[in-house]
Amino acid sequence: MKPEVCSNSISVLDNVEAIRMIDKGNMGLMISSFPTLLKEAVTLSRNLALPREYRNIKEVVICGMGGSAIGGELFKDLSQSIIPLRVSVIRDYDLPRHVDESSLVVAVSYSGNTEETLESFKQAYERGSRMIAIASNGLLEKACSKLKIPFLGVPSGYTPRSALPLLFIPLLKVAEEIGFPLVGEGELAKAHRLVEEYNYKLTPENPLSRNPAKQLAARLNEKLPIIYSMGHLKSVALRYKDQINENAKMRAMCDQLPEANHNEVEAWEKIDFKELLHVVFIDSRFKNPYLAESINQLISAIEKEGVGLSMVKPLGETMLEEMLSAIILGDWVSYYLAILRGVDPAPVRLISDLKKKHDEKTRYSEKFEEWLGKSAKSN
Ligand code: F6R
Repeated sequence: MKPEVCSNSISVLDNVEAIRMIDKGNMGLMISSFPTLLKEAVTLSRNLALPREYRNIKEVVICGMGGSAIGGELFKDLSQSIIPLRVSVIRDYDLPRHVDESSLVVAVSYSGNTEETLESFKQAYERGSRMIAIASNGLLEKACSKLKIPFLGVPSGYTPRSALPLLFIPLLKVAEEIGFPLVGEGELAKAHRLVEEYNYKLTPENPLSRNPAKQLAARLNEKLPIIYSMGHLKSVALRYKDQINENAKMRAMCDQLPEANHNEVEAWEKIDFKELLHVVFIDSRFKNPYLAESINQLISAIEKEGVGLSMVKPLGETMLEEMLSAIILGDWVSYYLAILRGVDPAPVRLISDLKKKHDEKTRYSEKFEEWLGKSAKSN
């Protein structure tokens, strides 16, 4: 039997034709669309206007799963030092008890059909929360139209994870609409230029010798990546892990500092399989100065054990630029890891099968439609 995953030599990274043959689902094209999608998302977001009463809220709750939740995590990290409201991301069915009529619930699902997100949307509606949804179509769109809930439709045709700009940038507009502008259009345009320029360096046409994404993928090849980050880049470390999981179908771990210094650090004392590990630090110019010192200590502990270590120094002058430049690098790294493993990055067979079989068993979408019919009548 032919093995499904074969290990290619590093030289495949400079063979554009071979890359194209492995990438049957065109993930490379989707990743290189990231800067274009950023621009498109800014334009789309201009259409988003929320009722005045949405300003008077106690918290923002973003509901979503997987590739649709990560935009919420980025928003949460970015807003922390600016918005004087609690921002939480719910990646689950049930909303926490504190969510009520003075909460703003933002349901995000690229397909518009994810069970967990639909269920928290339904709970938010029943609790009388102020709501908005973002999706490319599906039941979420239908529900918003029937229940007269503000809805932002985004273009379909991407995988949810590669549609990240379309799902994240509108959240910045939501913040503006509720009275907390986080990032102006000027800053967004500057970030877009940076990401566009950086993206050229990372594409398959740029050889390994000059391509930081290929270089990092080569170091991570056949290793277990352990990704650390901090502050507003915590969500970016999670994005790296998720992208490596979904694109390269490979295991990865992520942790955040300083918390890791209070538990995970102990695992650096007596390391099993050290030759199989590779640590990636996503650094930030905005980190707390006290944290800088404890990172140095952690790095020394890892280096003393002879474990491979790579530093990612995100580009840019603002938190947003750091986030976006680190993401585009990580997305390409996950892509090249897939290529090295001979795996088609786009399809996520296990996720799709799981969703399909699950819905056949629970018939959740049917039940949601029934609920929608009743709720629309009494609306
Ligand atoms: C990402 C991906 C998954 C989905 C998740 C939720 O490409 O395939 O992580 O994002 O299963 O689905 P959606 O985003 O449609 O709500």
